[in-house]
Amino acid sequence: MAFSLFSTTTRLIRERCRADTATKLRLKYAPYYHAMEAQTGPRVRLKGRDMIMLASNDYLGLSFHPKVIEAARAALLEWGTSPTGARISNGSRAYHHQLEEQLAAFLGREACHVHAAGYLSCLSGIGAFAQKGDIILADKNIHSCLWDGIRLSTADVERFSHNNPDDLRTVASHAPAAAPKLLVLEGVYSMEGHIARLPEIMAVAQEHGCFTVLDDAHGFGVLGRGGRGTADHFGLNDQIDIVCGSLSKSLASTGGFVAGSRDLIEYLRTHSKQTIFSAALSPSQAAAAGAALAVLQSEPEHLERLWSNTRKYTAMLKSLGLDTWGSETPAVPIVLGSKERVYYFWQALLEKGVFTVMSIAPAVPTGKDLIRTAISASHTDEQLEQIAEAMAYAVKKS
Ligand SMILES: Cc1ncc(COP(=O)(O)O)c(C=O)c1O
Repeated sequence: MAFSLFSTTTRLIRERCRADTATKLRLKYAPYYHAMEAQTGPRVRLKGRDMIMLASNDYLGLSFHPKVIEAARAALLEWGTSPTGARISNGSRAYHHQLEEQLAAFLGREACHVHAAGYLSCLSGIGAFAQKGDIILADKNIHSCLWDGIRLSTADVERFSHNNPDDLRTVASHAPAAAPKLLVLEGVYSMEGHIARLPEIMAVAQEHGCFTVLDDAHGFGVLGRGGRGTADHFGLNDQIDIVCGSLSKSLASTGGFVAGSRDLIEYLRTHSKQTIFSAALSPSQAAAAGAALAVLQSEPEHLERLWSNTRKYTAMLKSLGLDTWGSETPAVPIVLGSKERVYYFWQALLEKGVFTVMSIAPAVPTGKDLIRTAISASHTDEQLEQIAEAMAYAVKKS
């Protein structure tokens, strides 16, 4: 009896999986999970062909920087491969504390906690502080990890239109005045490349006494003085309670961080499930992030190059009449409007040796099917020219 119930459910779940649209697309077009055979900076090899990587979040191009590689190698030799445990029990090491101090000082915060993934940091940055009875005001376009943090918190959630301070004001005004309110937003929206309208949004947050959580995964290392992020870009650091983010973008590693006042971070260390029940960041990844942060501060040319490449690239796309969804940053979507056009465009770029990523509804709103691209400081002038030729070809072919 028990066995037959089990096999019925197994059948049901397997049918569900086979019927899923994204799975069907993956089986038909194979657009995801490409295993690159080799990599040097933004050059990768796929099915024996050299390609330009135009979809990585290695904004500053530091993943192949000699100092970053050397730091990771040295940490591996000194500390081994993994702390094999959670920070709260056996997994804390001096290298975690060093990285946390380095990040806190850079961000102008009292304290910081690092996790083994940016996803965990974002879950933790919301989940540790929001409770049942609180109201979370969330931008409609926030990243999946922030939605998961909101769900885990059991607080009520109200969404406001993307990057729209007027709608935030309306939504906040309809919420019970006495309820504690948390505002959750991104500094730079990962899919759209939009910069949060922080001055206007924070004015509303102040009116309603919000506690603010800013996910700056794509603003850290990109915006602000020397890459200090979106809050710094607007001079609004003191209005943001928690900044969380990822080490896997500008800092060329993996892992994530949550930064804020000492009391908040100490609370998170003993209350966040993602912190307590998950293994600590590995030594080589922590060392890579720390070295990348040092390079960001000592070699400003990477940030300068990132922005000059971004300006050239965005101007080129516009000259071809492509819709970049108003992106203002190195994360540049190319909105094509239908999944068929996205597929043909992506295929044409691939033919010309440029690797990008397709993003289609429901991952993006219907009609906003797009190719996600991201420019890096490590793209050379020659590669930018090759990218421009490939784009012109894709426009003709799609
Ligand atoms: C806005 C945003 N937040 C958080 C994350 C999670 O970071 P990680 O990939 O380091 O886990 C991402 C990753 O794509 C992201 O785009």
